[in-house]
Amino acid sequence: MMVPFEGCEKSVRYYLVQVLFIFWYWGSVKNVEADVVASVGTNVNLGEALQFLREYDLEASRMCFTVGTSQWIYATNMTDFNKRRMVEEQVLKAKFDKLTWSRAMAFDWTKIPDPMVRRHLKFLVTSGRGSLPDEKYNEIHHLISEMKDIYAHVRVCPYDNNDKIYCDLELEDLSEIMAKSRNPLELAHVWKEWHDKTGPPMKNKFMRYVEIANQASKFNGFQDAGEEMRYLYEDADFENVVAETFQRLQPLYKEFFTYVRKKLVKQYGPNVVRPEGPLPAHILGNIWAQDWSNIENIVTPYPNTPKIDVTDEMRRQGFTPLRIFQMSEEFFTSLGLKPMPPEFWRHSMIEKPVNRKVQCTASAWDFCNRLDYRIKQCTEVQMKDLITSHHEMAHIQYYLYYADQPYLYRDGANPGFHEGIANAISLSVYNPTHLHLVGLFNNDTTDYETNMKFLFGMALGKLAYAPYAYLVDLWRYEIFRNGVSNMNSDWWQLRIKFQGVVPPIPRSEQHLDAAAKRHIPADMPYMKYYVALLLEFQIFEVLCNAAGHTGPLHSCDIYRSREAGRILSDIMTVGRSKHWKDVLRILTKGKSNKLSSDSMIKYFQPLYIWLKVQNKNEKLSGG
Ligand SMILES: *[C@@H]1O[C@H](CO)[C@@H](O)[C@H](O)[C@H]1NC(C)=O
Ligand SMILES: *[C@@H]1O[C@H](CO)[C@@H](O)[C@H](O)[C@H]1NC(C)=O
Ligand SMILES: [Zn+2]
Repeated sequence: MMVPFEGCEKSVRYYLVQVLFIFWYWGSVKNVEADVVASVGTNVNLGEALQFLREYDLEASRMCFTVGTSQWIYATNMTDFNKRRMVEEQVLKAKFDKLTWSRAMAFDWTKIPDPMVRRHLKFLVTSGRGSLPDEKYNEIHHLISEMKDIYAHVRVCPYDNNDKIYCDLELEDLSEIMAKSRNPLELAHVWKEWHDKTGPPMKNKFMRYVEIANQASKFNGFQDAGEEMRYLYEDADFENVVAETFQRLQPLYKEFFTYVRKKLVKQYGPNVVRPEGPLPAHILGNIWAQDWSNIENIVTPYPNTPKIDVTDEMRRQGFTPLRIFQMSEEFFTSLGLKPMPPEFWRHSMIEKPVNRKVQCTASAWDFCNRLDYRIKQCTEVQMKDLITSHHEMAHIQYYLYYADQPYLYRDGANPGFHEGIANAISLSVYNPTHLHLVGLFNNDTTDYETNMKFLFGMALGKLAYAPYAYLVDLWRYEIFRNGVSNMNSDWWQLRIKFQGVVPPIPRSEQHLDAAAKRHIPADMPYMKYYVALLLEFQIFEVLCNAAGHTGPLHSCDIYRSREAGRILSDIMTVGRSKHWKDVLRILTKGKSNKLSSDSMIKYFQPLYIWLKVQNKNEKLSGG
């Protein structure tokens, strides 16, 4: 129901395309920098470093504009011609990145006296795999691109398909079945097909990928590729910090898990769900068992209390996509934040066009020219899209506020900040108080059952997601650190330990079940979703306090609070120019610089108390 955290592709800089262009591409760049093995340069001249960074800033911004424009044109008009143009731009960008890396390497950033310049150079030198010799650089990109290709082309046979002719279900179709089917045999079939057709064909490629990724990271001065992934958080203690936040969520998660299991036993019987055991992964409404919102109608308390859904009311009031966007803008201006610039209204795509093929995933774009910002969303008049439009517009606010930073700092304070802020806004929009205030929800907002049911729904999306968001990269860290033996049993150990989830059928080391998630073959980090989840609630709580909210946290609405708006603008303006812990300090007005799950626990506190009563005769488990 809620906006999926991962669903939102925030920015053009991270926009990824499924194309196998790497072959001819690498033919053309091969000799840019022959067989460099990273060794820090010797240049410590501050003037030259400043000059280089000035040039880089201009060129990178320009590059971001041209690549972004070509990506936008393709995403909003998917023709072969537009795709070719985009790929050409991406090739130029890749050349530029590699050249930038080697130019930055000429400096010994560790000895540059100016801390700002040092930080800039450090970001440039330690990002990516530019340190690999060309041959390996090409090889790893090729491997990733092949794995993504395997993932994208998996087709699955439907259940009960005796003639095996129509084996053409795509991920989207499977997701629909996982969400809607209540036949455990069909669900297990789909689960097995997807996992058998993603992991095994990739396994050898993945092992080679691990080897080369580790080599690249060693060239960059890290122990392994996992350490390099964590390095973006600029905190040597990062693993312990997140582990501690996760520990604190455990009691809440266990109560929740136990209640959900009881309902699932009732639905499917003890042969499918063991009354005191872990949950099988195929009956949770999602192919990865990461978000359980789709089984809400089975597990929700108070099934006869109506769910908060204002879609009908929006239609009755004659809402249009434009009006949804105007309402979102008004939310931000009510906080004293910026209106959307004229270019935004001129160029955004807020409805699905009828005459051409487009990419419908909602996303917010920064064209890096301090002028042009857009949202692409195939908006329909429904509650989900109202929340999404606020969420995407929060990303635009972030872009607008950090626009004056240098290019490298025009980003979230750490990889979780963009989503954290956008989702904190969503929390203020999707709740009974706000929907009532804007005239869309006309029932009693203080009704106990309505509120408990609301919180339970939020828990299915967010609390259920926490262990999954946490463990995907824990697994990857482990593989990079300890090697590729027992990858699949390691994966399931983490899943049973943290999520309390087991595979519906026996698995072996032939399988690579982690690769059933696109971020694994696509080489995309995942821990940021966990960090964003915590930040979402941390930021929300601070904004609510600033807005003078009293009462339970989940009913807080920051609408029209100038004070909340001031805090948001303070933390957004700095972008990535400060350490994210300093940004947390700004957020908390000096009180704390810690990532914490306490706000999330506080948000779910009324549900926690309720669950403990419901579970008083149950044996707790899960996670
Ligand atoms: C879509 O792109 C094609 C080029 O491939 C172009 O000819 C066409 O005019 C574009 N359509 C729109 C509506 O922009
Ligand atoms: C965070 O706060 C602690 C205690 O106040 C302090 O020791 C630490 O240096 C701070 N870290 C950063 C990065 O500001
Ligand atoms: Zn987002």
